[in-house]
Amino acid sequence: MEVIPCPDRDRAVALTARLIEARLRAKPDLVLGLATGRTMEEVYARVVASGVSFARCTTFNLDEYVGLPPEDPNSYASYMRHHLFDHVDIDPARTHLPDGMASDLAAAAADYEAKIAAAGGIDLQLLGIGESGHIGFNEPLSALRSRTRDKILTPTTRRQNAGMFGGDCGAVPKRALTMGVGTILDTRELVLLASGAAKAAVVARAVEGPLTSRVSASAIQLHTSCKVVLDAEAAAELEDTDYYRFVCSNEEKWDGYRDLL
Ligand code: GLP
Repeated sequence: MEVIPCPDRDRAVALTARLIEARLRAKPDLVLGLATGRTMEEVYARVVASGVSFARCTTFNLDEYVGLPPEDPNSYASYMRHHLFDHVDIDPARTHLPDGMASDLAAAAADYEAKIAAAGGIDLQLLGIGESGHIGFNEPLSALRSRTRDKILTPTTRRQNAGMFGGDCGAVPKRALTMGVGTILDTRELVLLASGAAKAAVVARAVEGPLTSRVSASAIQLHTSCKVVLDAEAAAELEDTDYYRFVCSNEEKWDGYRDLL
């Protein structure tokens, strides 16, 4: 794992956007794993502004609420159209989200896994982190080898996401269909972005804490190509930030990103 501490949110977002752009330019037929949440909104705005082409790109989103149709403004399908798909040259047929409206969720989950496999696996997976420690919607005690399936959302997550539902926790769906931790670990590269003081404690547990299903994000410690991009607030509770900075400042691969570090 590499931790990339950036001075502020703008630069952490810009660095993440630039990584996506670089991967797309290097491999136009990239299979890109997408995440939602407020943190990613600015990332997508920057990727759109970069003008990079998505014409040959295939995407798979991490998760979708159960029971919200794609046209519901709070569905992640709507989120993706609004923040990314409607503004780039992507072929809608190459965009995928789990089907939270399926009558058979287990079959929809298996179908999603099959589609990822048929696409050759995911090259780059973007991740946010929830205050419950989740990646995707892998709530505490998600098996570290889990595959796509439906999960009950924790009260913490429903509270965290209530803002998108008019502040009403009760309006946040109780379940979601999410890639599993194992699905996420099978991707070829992970980039996790976190910003803000509210994420500092959970970031420290995920990055430096023990590997535990209580914090599904700690599973990123098992991935052989994982970058964690943080602003100063989200990095505030890490113990070894000086070391992470030392590594970044000595790695040539970050030379093109020095303005953001
Ligand atoms: C949702 C998503 C997660 C995401 C999280 C972060 O819960 N399912 O994949 O990491 O939001 O949200 P935010 O960026 O709004 O803090």
